[in-house]
Amino acid sequence: MANDNEMKEQLIKRALLARRWSYSPYSHYAVGAALLTRSGKIYDGVNIENAAYPSGICAERVAVFKAVSEGERDFEIIAVVTENGGSPCGGCRQVLAEFGLETLVILADATGKLTAEFQLREILPDAFTPDKLTG
Ligand code: THU
Repeated sequence: MANDNEMKEQLIKRALLARRWSYSPYSHYAVGAALLTRSGKIYDGVNIENAAYPSGICAERVAVFKAVSEGERDFEIIAVVTENGGSPCGGCRQVLAEFGLETLVILADATGKLTAEFQLREILPDAFTPDKLTG
C-alpha cells in the first residue's frame, strides 16, 4: 500500500496543503514536504526562512526533524512540492540518508503533478552514512 499510486497522491496532496504555510519572504520559493513513516504516519514540513539568511531551513528537514523528534526514524517516502518540481538540496539528501538510502523521493509541481521519483541512493551516490563512523 505504502508504495502505490494512491499513497503517492495522498503524500503529494499533503505536501501541497502544507506548502501554503511556507515562510519564504526572501526567495519567494515555497516548498512543502510530506514524509511517510513505516509506521504509517505522515509528517509535513515547509521551508522557513529568516532575515539572517543561513538561519532558514528547508521543508524536507522540517518534516524529518518533526518525525525524529517524535520517535520516528524509519521512512518510506518523502514527497516534495515546489513551483516547478525542484529536487531536494544536498543538505536535505544528507539528512535523509542518515535514516536510510531506500527512502523514495517523489517530486511534484504546484499543480500536484508528479514530475520525478528516485530512490535516495540514486541521488546521493557514495553517501556518507552512520556506518562510516563505526566500520
Ligand atoms: N528549499 C527547500 O525547502 N528544500 C530544498 O530542497 C531546496 C530549497 C528552500 C530553501 C529556501 O527557503 C528556498 O527553498 C530557496 O532556496
